[in-house]
Amino acid sequence: MAVSLKEKVCVVTGAARSIGLAIAEMYCQHEAKVVMIDINPQVDIEAERLAKEGYHVKSYVLDITDREAVLKVFDEIYNEIGPVYALVNNAGIVDQRPFDEITSEQMDLQMRVNVSGTLFCTQGAIRGMKENKAGKIINFSSKSGKTGSALMVHYSAAKGAVIALTQALAFELADHKINVNCLCPGITDATGVWSEVSKGYIHNLQMPRDEVVDRFTAKIPLKRLTAIEDVVEFTHFLTVSGDYCTGQAFNITGGREMH
Ligand SMILES: NC(=O)c1ccc[n+]([C@@H]2O[C@H](COP(=O)([O-])OP(=O)(O)OC[C@H]3O[C@@H](n4cnc5c(N)ncnc54)[C@H](O)[C@@H]3O)[C@@H](O)[C@H]2O)c1
Repeated sequence: MAVSLKEKVCVVTGAARSIGLAIAEMYCQHEAKVVMIDINPQVDIEAERLAKEGYHVKSYVLDITDREAVLKVFDEIYNEIGPVYALVNNAGIVDQRPFDEITSEQMDLQMRVNVSGTLFCTQGAIRGMKENKAGKIINFSSKSGKTGSALMVHYSAAKGAVIALTQALAFELADHKINVNCLCPGITDATGVWSEVSKGYIHNLQMPRDEVVDRFTAKIPLKRLTAIEDVVEFTHFLTVSGDYCTGQAFNITGGREMH
C-alpha cells in the first residue's frame, strides 16, 4: 500500500534546479515537509517561491562535501522540522574530458561530490529513520555508473561507486527497515548535466548539437532522451511504495541500459 507523504519530512539535495527541483516540487504537491539543499543560493529563491504557493518548504545553502556542516544541518532538520522519512541524494556534478587530461583535482571532485556527499547526507539523515524504523534513501547513479561513458571515466567511476555504496548500505540498514536504492537515468533532457555533457561532446567529437542528440537518441530503444518527469515518477514510486526493493540500481534509460 502506498504511504501518504502528508507531513513526512522529505529532503532533496541538488534542489536548486533540474531533476532535484522537480522532485522537491513533486513532494510539495504530496503535502510533505520538504527540505531543499543546494550549494547554489538559487535554492532559497525556489524554496521561497514554493512557500508562497502555500507549501511547507525549508531550504539550506550547503556544500554536501563538508561533512561537519552537513551533519549540523541534518541535526537542525531533526530538531526543527522532524525526523527525515525520505532522502534523495540527487546533487551531483559531471565533467567531460579525454582520459589523459583528467587531473587529480577533477578526479577528487567527482568522488567528493558524487560519492562522499551522498554518504555524508545519508549519515545525517538516518537517525530519525532508525528511530521510526522506516525510511527511504534514493541515491543518484547514472547509466554511466553501469556501463561507463567514454570521455567521462572519472564521472563513470564515481557513479559506479554510488551503486556499490547503495548495495552495501542496503545490507547495513535492512534491519532498520530502511530501503536504500539508486536511480540510473540516461541522458536527461533539460538538465544541467546534459547541458554540460552536450557542450563537451560538441567540443570533443567536433559535431553540431543536433548530430550529437541524434547520435545518442539512435542508441535508445524507446527513441527519446529521458525526461525529468520519468525520473520524478520513479522517485515517487520508491518513496511511497517499493517496500520489498532494496539495494537496487534502477535504469531509467528507455532501454539503453538493460542490466
Ligand atoms: N541529467 C542527466 O542527463 C543525468 C543522467 C544520469 C544521472 N544524472 C544524475 O542526476 C543528478 C541530477 O542531475 P541534473 O542534470 O539535474 O544536475 P544539475 O547539474 O542540473 O543539478 C545538480 C545540482 O546539484 C548541485 N550541487 C552540485 N554540487 C553540490 C555540492 N557540493 N553541494 C550541494 N549541491 C551541489 C548544483 O548546484 C545543482 O543545483 C546528478 O547526480 C546527476 O549525476 C543526470
